[in-house]
This record gives sequence, structure tokens and C-alpha cells, in this order.
Amino acid sequence: MNPWNFNRNLEDKIEIVFNDLVVEPGFCNLSCKYCLSNQMPTWLLEDQPNSITKKLIYSEETELKHQLDSMFKNYNNIFDASILRISGGEIFLVKGIIDFLKAHHENFDVVQIVTNGLLLNEENIKKLKEITNCHLHISLDGHTTGLNNNRVKSHYQQETILKNLENSVKAGFPIEIGAVLSNTNTRNFTEFLDYLLKYNNQIIVFPFPLRGEAKERFHPDRESILEFSKVIENYSKYQNILLPFSYIEEVYKILKEDKRQLRCHIPKTMLQFFNDGNISPCPNGWASSLGNLIKDDSSEIKSKIGRDKIYSLFLQSRPRLSFCKECFTSLDIINLYIEGKISEEELASIPLYSGPRTQARLKYIKNKTYESL
Ligand SMILES: C[S@@+](CC[C@H](N)C(=O)[O-])C[C@H]1O[C@@H](n2cnc3c(N)ncnc32)[C@H](O)[C@@H]1O
Ligand code: SF4
Repeated sequence: MNPWNFNRNLEDKIEIVFNDLVVEPGFCNLSCKYCLSNQMPTWLLEDQPNSITKKLIYSEETELKHQLDSMFKNYNNIFDASILRISGGEIFLVKGIIDFLKAHHENFDVVQIVTNGLLLNEENIKKLKEITNCHLHISLDGHTTGLNNNRVKSHYQQETILKNLENSVKAGFPIEIGAVLSNTNTRNFTEFLDYLLKYNNQIIVFPFPLRGEAKERFHPDRESILEFSKVIENYSKYQNILLPFSYIEEVYKILKEDKRQLRCHIPKTMLQFFNDGNISPCPNGWASSLGNLIKDDSSEIKSKIGRDKIYSLFLQSRPRLSFCKECFTSLDIINLYIEGKISEEELASIPLYSGPRTQARLKYIKNKTYESL
């Protein structure tokens, strides 16, 4: 029996919720102290670029354009996703990437760009406004250089990000703020929320714990973790900029217990694609490649989706792999929905999940999960 049978659409394409596209993960304009990009597996490192300038431009003649276009052509023949989530490294370092998004955005309910916000300048904001379904996920751990200390190196960087956030809100994009809970911001997280209250009903804050090797150095101490309970106690004050209560409760639980108990369904909902063609079954743990969209035959790829042995390990009723045991990200909202801890209405109230195809697909996966028990 297959660990998971993905639904197929009328054209026999594999239906997923997220196409999680990662472009050149090695290139960034920040060097956050805890960044996971340092932990790239060997199968991803093989095709690292020789020439930075050549690789970071998406335009006629560049290798990156050939790669992304051929990868996406093959992707479109095999898969059908309702959300495109794109990130880097820092994706706005890729010149011309907005043209790529313009060419493909109509195939998705939402195109979400994950960014550190540093290059979200007026010019980029203006171009992005032409992508009608564009959402932003801006990574920011706090409004001061102190709270955001694991990410920025200067007051200038901090102020640039805050100004870009302000302009993005004014431009009307649906915005998520992704905040990694570390030694700098967990204790005083409500101070950051107080600052963000000026964006009531215009942003949603997604706090999530630190993971990976960086935990040893940057994990908050016990006292700071206990202080995070202030977010729970004052939930009603912040509810218009926060996720549903059960998400915040779950974050607090995993911070305190340092071990995830929540069942994970993420690999049933998405695949992560890299510009070099590699496909990974989970965006949060680069365990293995399921093949290469540019190099491999489509039937070979199809034979592994939902069937490769890695799915049996990922889809256990309790997290088994070591990185699963410490994993909790903004995507866990999907798990809370499938596990019945947040309602359909709560899910639909989050802009990223408000699209009709996205909701239908998540509902299908939830029903099928319980059917197969
Ligand atoms: C690797 S970054 C790439 C996108 C972009 N440069 C950014 O920072 O948003 C993707 C996400 O991973 C998060 N991240 C990086 N290192 C992390 C860690 N050790 N634990 C948890 N999340 C981490 C970032 O904060 C961001 O939300
Ligand atoms: S901005 Fe993103 S990719 Fe760059 S170092 Fe920070 S977390 Fe990593």
C-alpha cells in the first residue's frame, strides 16, 4: 500500500496545495546567526553555481532562466498546486524574478514571497502590485535591533526593513510576519506585538521556534520561554494580528517541552522544488531528493511521489525522524486544521489559505486522512 495517494486532477496531474519553490538557497544579503541555509544536504550542493552574476539574473540568455523555465515546464506537466511559495536565499537578489512570477501567477490562488524584507523597496513593491494574487511573508524577529539581533547587523538594516514593511502594508499586500523565537525576542515578544498593533487586521504574525544546529547557541532560556506565556494571557489584545489561539498554544507547548507531539501531514500537501530541478518531500527537513525535474523522466518522478519510503517515515502518527521531533513552522497551521484543532472558518480567515482550490484540497486531505484510519 502507498503511504499516501495524492489526488489526481482531470488531466492526471498530481494535486498539491503548495509548490514551495526555492531558488539559489546559498545566496543572501543577510547572514542571520541561526540560518538553516548553512545546513544544505550534499544532494543540493552538487550543482552550486560557478559565477554568481550569471546565476542571479532571470533574463534571456541566463542559465538561471533556462533552468527555471525548463523546470517549470516539466512541473506543469506533472503537478497542479494551488499556492506558489517562493524563497531563496534572499529571493529579491535574483534580478528579474518578478518577471518569472508575472508569467506564472495566474495558475495559483496565491503567490507568496518569503523575504527578509531588505530589498522590498518602492520599485519592487510597484512591480509586485501587478501580480494581483501576490502575498508577502516577511521574516522579522522584532522591531528593535535588540529583538532582531540574530538577523540584522545595523540600525540601518533594521530601519530599512521596518520602512519596507510599512510601505508594503500601505500598498495593501496580505502580509505574514515570520518571527523565529530565539534568545533575543522570546522573553519580550509582547513588545514586538505592541509595535505591530498599528497594523491591526493588516498583518498576521507567525511566531515559531528555532530549529536545527543553531538551537544549541540561540535557543531561549527557560525563564524567557515562561515569559512567552504573556502572549497567551493577553491573546485578546493581540488577536487581530495573531494566528488562531490553538496555534499560539502549540508554539508555547513545543517551546516548553522542546519536543513535538503533534502529528504531521505536511508531506501530503506539498513538495519543495529547487531551481536545479531537485524535488524534496518536505520543505522543513531536506531528507532526500525524490528526483530531478530537469534530468529525470516524468514517469520515474511520478512513481516516487507519495510512494518513496521516506513518506512512511514522515507520516507516522508520532514524529519519528529527529528533525521532525523539533520541527514547528508557520505551515503547522495545516496540521492543526487536519487534526481538528482549528476550524475551517479559522483556516479560511488566514489570507494564504483563503483561496477556493486551497480550501477544497485541504478539506479533501483531511477527510481522506480520517477515512484511512
Ligand atoms: C532560510 S529563510 C529564506 C528566506 C528569506 N531569506 C528569509 O529570511 O525570510 C526561510 C525561513 O527560514 C527561517 N529560518 C532560518 N533559520 C531558521 C532556524 N534555525 N530555525 C527556524 N527558522 C529558521 C527564516 O526566518 C525564514 O522564515
Ligand atoms: S535572511 Fe533568510 S536566508 Fe538570509 S541569512 Fe537570514 S534566514 Fe538565512
